Parts: sequence; structure tokens; C-alpha cells
Amino acid sequence: MKAQGNLGVAGFDIIESTKAELENLCPGIVSCADIVALAARDAVSLVRGPNYDVPTGRRDGRLSKKSLADKLPDVDDSIEVLRAKFRDKGLSDRDLVLLSGGAHTIGVAACFFMQKRLYNFTPGGGSDPAINPRFLPKLKAKCPISGDVNVRIPLDWGSHNVFDLHILKNIRDGNAVIASDARLYDDQSTRQILDSYITSTPSFNADFATAMVKMGTIGVKAGSQGEIRRVCTAVN
Ligand code: HEM
Repeated sequence: MKAQGNLGVAGFDIIESTKAELENLCPGIVSCADIVALAARDAVSLVRGPNYDVPTGRRDGRLSKKSLADKLPDVDDSIEVLRAKFRDKGLSDRDLVLLSGGAHTIGVAACFFMQKRLYNFTPGGGSDPAINPRFLPKLKAKCPISGDVNVRIPLDWGSHNVFDLHILKNIRDGNAVIASDARLYDDQSTRQILDSYITSTPSFNADFATAMVKMGTIGVKAGSQGEIRRVCTAVN
């Protein structure tokens, strides 16, 4: 929760109250890791995305380190770095496109994450040339140079409350809001993957669900590893 890129993550109260209810009913059985994976599944369904099953049985880690969170993909990473960070976790270029596109079809981003892209992308204070010239003034108006960096704007401009393919078209057309989404169109491999989904909701939805399940298996602790936390914000 203290890592710079994750300061705005919300909803921990919902995870914690779910955990408290479960601990009342059946103490020490359901991990926080499973609650988070199931909450993501339900959130996707609630915004009219695909319904999918999530395997359970994860145990919680006994470590929580800011230094590890700092290694997560960064909004200003190049496409090469984004691909490498995903690859290091066993996730392909396809997973990168599906997970970024599928997740950022909903939600908002703080202007903080747009500062470099809008006002310091090139020497002399230029903007990211990948931004459509018709979109640039709109972004700048929402996130002015000395404005409040905590103001939040939709990640999927024009369709941020529903799970759909609109985000992919936005990225193709230079209307991505955050730089890491725009970078998906920089590289031939990720561009081709993204283009291939623009016309097919069924395959995007199904492949997104598969990628979510795959991501949910990374580094899973089972058996006698880790623990079942009593509260999700602290190790036992
Ligand atoms: C490719 C690497 C990624 C980068 C660099 C990235 C970066 C970001 C940033 C900067 C924000 C705005 C956060 C804020 O203002 O507090 C954001 C929002 C969000 N991201 Fe990502 N993200 C990535 C991949 C993912 C993935 C794989 C998922 C989940 C599958 C995801 C889910 C979300 C969601 C749901 C939001 C909206 C949060 C809200 O509305 O409060 N992101 N992301």
C-alpha cells in the first residue's frame, strides 16, 4: 500500500470486511489471496465482462514488501520493459494486451500518472507523440500542468463503466489515457494482437478470462507454505 504506483488503490475495506465475515463463519480457512481473486472475478462480471471460474486454495504470503511492489510494471515503462516484466512472471505478449486492455476498460487514473506523458515526454516539455492531436487538448484540460495531480479521469475515455472493446479502439486511435496502454501499439507483436481483438467480443472476453486465471496462479502458495491471514492487512 506504500509503493508509489499503488497509493491510489482502493477497496481494501471491502476485502477486510469480507474477511471478517468469513473468519466469523469458518476461521482460518479462506485466504486473503483467494478473496482478492474472487473479488476481481465478481467485479468483472458486475461491469458486464465475462463470467469465469477461479480456482481457489491459495494461501497468503508471510512477507509484504514495498521493494517488491516497486518492481511492478510502471506506467512510463517502454513496451520492451513491459513485455520483459510480464515474461519474467510467465505471461506472454498476448497476456499483456489482454490483461491491460481488459482491466483498463473500466476505472480511473490520477492525473499524477499523466504528468510525464503530457508535459515531460520529450526534452523541452513536449507530449507523447502517440497521443492523437485531437485528444491531446482534452487530456491537458482535465490534467493541467500545475493542476491537482489527484484528479482522476477515465482510463477508457468514453466507456469506463462497462467491460467492452472500446479501450482497444481508443489505444489504436491514439486515445489511450495512460502511457503504458499507448505503448501496446508501439510494438508490432502487441499491435497485431490488439488489432486482432478489435472486432471480436467473444474471443476477447474468453481470452481475457483465461489470462486472469493464469495471472491468478503466479507464485501461488499451497500446502504448508505461507499462512491463512487473520486480517488481510497484516501477517499473523
Ligand atoms: C501493463 C501494466 C500496467 C500498468 C503500468 C498499469 C498502470 C495503472 C495505472 C497508473 C492506473 C491508475 C491508478 C491510479 O490512478 O490510482 C491503473 C488503474 C487500474 N489498473 Fe492498471 N496497470 C497495468 C496493468 C493492469 C492489470 C494487469 C490489471 C488487472 C488485471 C490492472 C487493473 C487496473 C484497474 C482495475 C485500474 C482502475 C483502478 C480504479 O478505478 O481505481 N492494471 N493501472
